[in-house]
Order: sequence, then C-alpha cells, then structure tokens
Amino acid sequence: MHKILISRGKKEYIPELEREVTTRKALRYYVTDLNKDFHTKYGIISKKDLKKKDGSTIKTDRDKEFSIFTSQFADDFRKLRRAPQTVIPKDFGMIIAETGLGKNDTVVDAGTGAGALACALANVCKKVITYETREDHIEVAKENIKFLGIKNITIKNKDITKGITEKNIDLITLDLPEPWQAIKAVQKALKIGGWLVAYTPTTTQASQFVEEIRKNESFLFDNTTEIIRRKWIIEGKRVRPQSAEIGHTAFLTFTRRIK
Ligand SMILES: C[S@@+](CC[C@H](N)C(=O)[O-])C[C@H]1O[C@@H](n2cnc3c(N)ncnc32)[C@H](O)[C@@H]1O
Repeated sequence: MHKILISRGKKEYIPELEREVTTRKALRYYVTDLNKDFHTKYGIISKKDLKKKDGSTIKTDRDKEFSIFTSQFADDFRKLRRAPQTVIPKDFGMIIAETGLGKNDTVVDAGTGAGALACALANVCKKVITYETREDHIEVAKENIKFLGIKNITIKNKDITKGITEKNIDLITLDLPEPWQAIKAVQKALKIGGWLVAYTPTTTQASQFVEEIRKNESFLFDNTTEIIRRKWIIEGKRVRPQSAEIGHTAFLTFTRRIK
C-alpha cells in the first residue's frame, strides 16, 4: 500500500504589490515505504503517523500539516517506469470510452513496452494478453505490473504479426511502429463487432494503417482521433489556459471487424 501526502497551497492579495502572491506552496508527496520516517521539504513525518487512517491530518517535526490518504490507481500509474514511451491517461481514457471496454471483455495488446496501456486496460476489463518481442521491455512491464498489483495480465514474448493464439477477442490495441503488419493476425483473433485500435505517433503511420484497413473487407474504418488536453488555471479572476501543455502524443485509429 502506498500513501499520498497533500498540503494545500495558499495565495494572498498583497495591497502594496497590488497582486496575489503565493504565501504557501502546494505540496504533494507519494510515499512507498510506510515502515520508514518520511522526509519532506518541511521536516520529517514519523512512520507511526504514515499508518494513520485516510483523511487524517498529520504534522512534520517542524509543525507542517499534511492530509494523508491511500493512493489510487491514477496516483500509482503516474509512478510507473516509462522506458519505452508509454500511453498516457488522455489517450487510454479515449480508448476505453470509445470502445466501451468493460468488466467482461478480453483484450489483446502489442507491443507491451513498459506495460502502461496493458495495465490501464486490465484495470477495467476481465483479462489482457500482451505481446512483446523484446525481453528487456518485458522486464520493465513485469516490474510495473507488480508495482500496480495487477493480476489479470499475461505477457507473451512473441511477435504479434506472426499470429495471435487467442480467439473471440473484444479489443485489440496496437502500439508498435508498423501496426498494418498485424492486421492479418488480428483478423483471426478479433470477434465480429470487436475493435482494433492503432496508436500511432505520426500522420504517415496513421494514414498507412487506415489505407491497409480500407483494403480489407473484414474491417470498417471508424475514425482517427487526436486528443488535445488543455488544463486551465482558476484562481480568483485569473482564469485562463495553462501556458505549458503536453504537446502531441499520437493518433488513435478506431476500426471494427465486421465480417
Ligand atoms: C512504444 S512501445 C509500447 C508502449 C506500451 N503501449 C505502453 O503503454 O507501455 C512499442 C513496443 O512494441 C514492441 N514491438 C514492436 N514490434 C512488435 C511486434 N511485431 N510484436 C510485439 N511487440 C512489438 C517494441 O519492442 C516496443 O516495446
């Protein structure tokens, strides 16, 4: 079990400066070891206090207050090892929403990479079988799966383009450089009505994938989407988009097997 420590920030209007100034910085810590005292910027929290129930207010030895609660999936996900590049929440959220993935569904995923997408999908569906050619990436994925405590993922050290053993699959996700190479294998594994989603960083990958899908009578191209997330600052009268944003990640192409 991991814990989150939160200390709210505070802004005050300073008449002499005629503007709001941060008088207390917001702090957020992720605590992985509850059997050791935890060091913050403002002093130490004892291991005894780290075990207090969710919602408790605890103090450092320098009297700084924190709220404490057990970390949730979204908190733990932020802490995964990210080598290689992983799929992030704005994109996996769209995959789950668009395909309507649910608790009775089985997913095949490739490549596993760091296992981030596999974990995000496994968190809401029945089972994920994920294919990966590189053993070093499988080691990273295993570490991440263990860290999240996920039990419904099977990793296969196999090239997905050479064939998928599973049948009647509800969703297949492809995050690999040439997803069109896997279409034949996917066709045999995916159930009629099932979804095939390709995650491709470049426009050329997305268009090549869509062209190959269009040549195949068994598939129907549904849409290609890019998710652009814009966070806002909301502080009194200062209400505006944040300046620094995550830029482009990838295009999501949604297709379905229709026969
Ligand atoms: C960008 S990473 C995937 C990241 C992963 N979706 C995540 O969220 O952590 C792409 C992975 O695909 C693997 N890969 C490439 N071609 C493959 C293939 N034909 N079959 C299985 N894995 C493959 C690579 O080794 C690499 O680990």
